[in-house]
Amino acid sequence: MKQLDLAIVLAAGEGTRMKSATPKVLHKIAGLPILDHVIQAAARLGAKELRIVVGAAREQVESHVHQAFPDAHIVIQEERNGTGHATQLALEGAPLVGSLLILAGDTPLLTAVTLQEFFDLHDSLGADASVLTSVVPDPFGYGRIVRSEDGDLEKIVEERDADPFEKEIDEINTGVYLFDIAALRLAVAGLKTGNSQGELYLTDVIGLLKAAGQSVMAIRSNDYTETLGINDRSQLAECAAIMRDRINDSHMKSGVSITDPTTTWIDLTVEIANDVTIYPGSSLMGNTKISTGAIIGPRTTLDNVVVGPSASVLESWAAESEIGAFAKVGPFSFLRPGTVLAENTKVGAYVEIKNSSVGAGSKVPHLSYVGDATIGTGTNIGAATIFVNFDGEAKHKTTIGNDVRIGSDTMLVAPVTVADGAYTAAGSVITENVPAGSIGVARAKQRNVLGWVLRKRPGSKSAESAKKAGAVNGPTKVQGEA
Ligand code: UD1
Ligand code: MG
Repeated sequence: MKQLDLAIVLAAGEGTRMKSATPKVLHKIAGLPILDHVIQAAARLGAKELRIVVGAAREQVESHVHQAFPDAHIVIQEERNGTGHATQLALEGAPLVGSLLILAGDTPLLTAVTLQEFFDLHDSLGADASVLTSVVPDPFGYGRIVRSEDGDLEKIVEERDADPFEKEIDEINTGVYLFDIAALRLAVAGLKTGNSQGELYLTDVIGLLKAAGQSVMAIRSNDYTETLGINDRSQLAECAAIMRDRINDSHMKSGVSITDPTTTWIDLTVEIANDVTIYPGSSLMGNTKISTGAIIGPRTTLDNVVVGPSASVLESWAAESEIGAFAKVGPFSFLRPGTVLAENTKVGAYVEIKNSSVGAGSKVPHLSYVGDATIGTGTNIGAATIFVNFDGEAKHKTTIGNDVRIGSDTMLVAPVTVADGAYTAAGSVITENVPAGSIGVARAKQRNVLGWVLRKRPGSKSAESAKKAGAVNGPTKVQGEA
């Protein structure tokens, strides 16, 4: 099979209709910039050279392309004089002969499969130029495909230049083309600005090539949703939803249960093993990886999180974290970057963990903050324990050993260590290390001032109940004092 010699992605447009400080092609769907979807599809065809035309918000787009696609060649279009002008610039210094694919940077749903079929057909027909077209429910805004009576491609007319008859045509130019490079070079040199926008239209090369006796084809794609372009935020949402369904379908085909695919958003970069169940309202982002048997959701967000086999994460939010096999997280847990939970751990309701590791079998079941800590294996952190990691100026570390029992409502004032097998008494403010096997007790001894309510709150409901229970208003007596 023939190999593509060159692919050009046009991405210099302003994207004014997005009304955004972010360049249009860097808006994301499924976790990746619109442009990356296009470049990836083009790259899958194995073009020998890839050229990206950038212009508007050039620095941002250029630095992104450099970093994401280091092999791509960047072409600068200082002034945006249209898609024809962008193509002229992209051809400077490009191969003189061979085959060329041109794509718009704003059509992220095109698949490599469709592009390959398009290329194969173009190649087998021996065409000098082919336009990928599609029939759409609402052709407004697109260039229309004007065919002769016998069905041959005549020309492409832009919306603004179309007459009322042409506006009725529902077959549109998708902005995807294949050319013989030498033929295109000649044609783009002859482009003129005589149109409503005063620009050089790439679409006009079709008429020029025909006039020069070259063979020009319009090849219709079967799935118009693949060719949708993004020009505003509504189209961004529409394309994101189509991409979401595609991604979810492919996971379901590989054995993932997604109970409500319309509310489950999974980035293209996420990996999910079979027999994972995802409940509604969940978002899996970045390089998240989910192992087999895990249960995610409902309403759970995981951003760059690795989840081990058979772990469960319910109603929770986690980023840059690892959750070990059989671990149970949530509901309502908040795992911040640097959290590493070993196998069989438990993190319960209203627990926040940051930059900390929790050893195998250890539990942080209720209402706690764990920051900058190392917790050993088999340890239990009592309800409402706070790791006091910040002294107002710097963060400090806490180390908790194996099989430790931290009493409820302990404050662990870092830097501090509670060694293996040690306990802390509930309500303690622990500022000194607790040696192995000891209990740290750090709280005031309790005193009961007898009859206080009867003297200080006479007539109150509390006083009434106390009287019924036998409390007497005698001289002040205190229990628990020496
Ligand atoms: C273009 C086509 C139209 C087609 C539609 C498909 C032309 C004249 N029209 O219209 O027939 O139906 O795409 O989506 O080609 N760009 C540059 N430099 C420029 C102008 C544009 O690089 O000077 C880039 C844009 O960033 C964009 C692409 O070319 O990625 C298409 O430009 P856009 O302004 O979106 O053209 P459409 O009006 O959508
Ligand atoms: Mg467009």
